[in-house]
Amino acid sequence: MRVLGIETSCDETAAAVVENGTVMLSNCIASSMDLHAKYGGVVPEIAARMQLETIIPVTDRALRQAKCSWKDIDAIAVTYGAGLGGSLLIGVMTAKTLSIALQKPLTAVNHVMGHVYANFLRSTHLPGYKVSEEKVTLPFLAVILSGGHTQLVLFDDYLQYRLLGRTQDDAVGEAFDKVAKILGLPYPGGPSISALAKSGNPERFKLPKASVSKYDFSFSGLKTAVLRLAQEQIGETYDFPSFKLSDRLSEAQKADIAASFESVAIETIVEKVKSAVFEYKPSCVLLAGGVAANALLRRSLTDSLPCPLLMPDPKLCTDNGAMIATLGCWQLMLESLPSDPYSLTIAPNLSM
Ligand code: KG4
Ligand code: ZN
Repeated sequence: MRVLGIETSCDETAAAVVENGTVMLSNCIASSMDLHAKYGGVVPEIAARMQLETIIPVTDRALRQAKCSWKDIDAIAVTYGAGLGGSLLIGVMTAKTLSIALQKPLTAVNHVMGHVYANFLRSTHLPGYKVSEEKVTLPFLAVILSGGHTQLVLFDDYLQYRLLGRTQDDAVGEAFDKVAKILGLPYPGGPSISALAKSGNPERFKLPKASVSKYDFSFSGLKTAVLRLAQEQIGETYDFPSFKLSDRLSEAQKADIAASFESVAIETIVEKVKSAVFEYKPSCVLLAGGVAANALLRRSLTDSLPCPLLMPDPKLCTDNGAMIATLGCWQLMLESLPSDPYSLTIAPNLSM
């Protein structure tokens, strides 16, 4: 079964073809990230407009890269939530139109769960990707860390899961993005914080870990603690505006703050994952979402887990069409009836 996956939940317009839920034949992305960088975050109106301009060329590129014509495609999978309404609409309307015009089954995919399924890809001929040969076995613990979600989910079966815990406020990726803004670093904050943290001392500042219930998270206090620390470092009070901080902090101060923040944020996640593994004894752990690209996290979990850790190639951690095509394929193979292309609607607040 060959599935075309379409993903337009935020600022990436992505399409990919995946075969039998494991073989990535193509993966194409156009990102409007550069246009948002100067605003320090995604501007929904700009994102939607760029989705509209790029969806057809990106879909076309995905087919050509896979060396497929429409007759080689068995079904279409599309992200219908969670995400920005305007962005989701472009992908869903495109997929519905293709499904009706070409008479291909359509399957609606939950974006957050799609991130988990990036781990199900076993092979690809595309250059520049490292795909793990380690097989996913049940039950598995999914550690989902993105710009909008932070949650631990235990999968008893491929499409059946229990939510163990989630963030009570900011997602971890959002905390990276907000701290980056305080330090005057470009959006998205994750990669820029990590790069700067390499030259910093993670022990220099003691930042707090939130105390929330066992498998829940909270990152908004940590972000505020970074703000207060930066104000204190330049000798100002808490009413000093955050957007003026980066001009007054030295490069060494910024690097030490970035390293201290990254180390506490990652340590918090690692501790919770370790205790969930101890309690539920999954047969493997799957990392998912944009923050799963974080090198410190990947290293710390590899060193500390008693079971196999699967993590997608860093390029497949952030939003992409291959993860949507993969989950779409598994949905069609395992259970769900195809979605009705005439009635499918977007679900911006969809959760797992
Ligand atoms: O999964 P994703 O591409 O989009 C959402 O569905 O939210 O995740 C984007 C998030 C951003 O907050 C970005 O700062 C973060 O992932 N991110 C990272 C890294 N690369 C991306 N965070 C930490 N370390 C990274 N290397
Ligand atoms: Zn995502």
